Amino acid sequence: MPTGFYAPFSNCFFVTDLVRMHSGLDRRRRGLLREHRVMFLQRARDVLPPRYLRLLRAAAHFCGRVQTAQFEKLVVALALPPRPRVLDVGAGGFLGTNTTAHLLKLPGATIDAIEISSDHALALAERFEGRLNVITGDFLQHPFAQRYDLIVLDLDSPLIPALYNEWIPGKVKQLLTRGGAVIALCFGYAPETQIDSYGLAPETQILARKFLMRKFGATVLTPAILEDAYRQDADYEFVAMRGKLGAVPPETIVWIGLRRRQADT
Ligand SMILES: C[S@@+](CC[C@H](N)C(=O)[O-])C[C@H]1O[C@@H](n2cnc3c(N)ncnc32)[C@H](O)[C@@H]1O
Repeated sequence: MPTGFYAPFSNCFFVTDLVRMHSGLDRRRRGLLREHRVMFLQRARDVLPPRYLRLLRAAAHFCGRVQTAQFEKLVVALALPPRPRVLDVGAGGFLGTNTTAHLLKLPGATIDAIEISSDHALALAERFEGRLNVITGDFLQHPFAQRYDLIVLDLDSPLIPALYNEWIPGKVKQLLTRGGAVIALCFGYAPETQIDSYGLAPETQILARKFLMRKFGATVLTPAILEDAYRQDADYEFVAMRGKLGAVPPETIVWIGLRRRQADT
């Protein structure tokens, strides 16, 4: 495992030390990296030559290990039926490290993974060749032919408000079996004022604060708050929440597990 150049931080990897360690990068690439001190892996793919990507992928595997326990504990808490049908939305972003790799451990599961970027979809299909069905397309547009026991929504953080306000009550609900479950990313807390250690862009911090206040009436999410928020919800009940990294709460980003209620509304 490479050391010293990365830090798992929400969905980002710090790559500045990588650049310092490997001064062989040309000026244009060094400039791009400086400009984007915190880079998404997919952005790194545009900028870095293959030998650096290998190191970043190793970092992604490391982050995946850190996050494994939390994601997998949440999947267990959802008590899925045997041989579940699973849809992993946006699976290609980190080559399936956050979600797909763990979902593949579910015994007998059939996994569809949809990814809007054709490059990411191709890379995902190569990584997990023959073990899942990769669909290149937009979740909101794609005509799915079946319902799912579990839908996983691991989208980029600025999309979180849309997940809770539109996707989960809308298309996700239509695609879930009765009693089916959804795992979605959420902001875990929003700081009073912008702070660097929050790990998300300043505008996303403002978004997080406004969203958490409007949706849950709090700036720090707890299982009790979510339990309360979904008690009156006609479509979903709250099952469990896990900090993405398993660090001391509150965490910037959390996984939330909801179950679709049995009765149709
Ligand atoms: C945070 S990454 C997901 C990481 C992924 N779960 C993993 O384990 O590697 C978010 C991904 O969602 C994809 N995405 C964004 N909007 C989408 C949409 N409407 N339909 C399908 N994929 C989408 C992006 O292209 C990006 O690759």
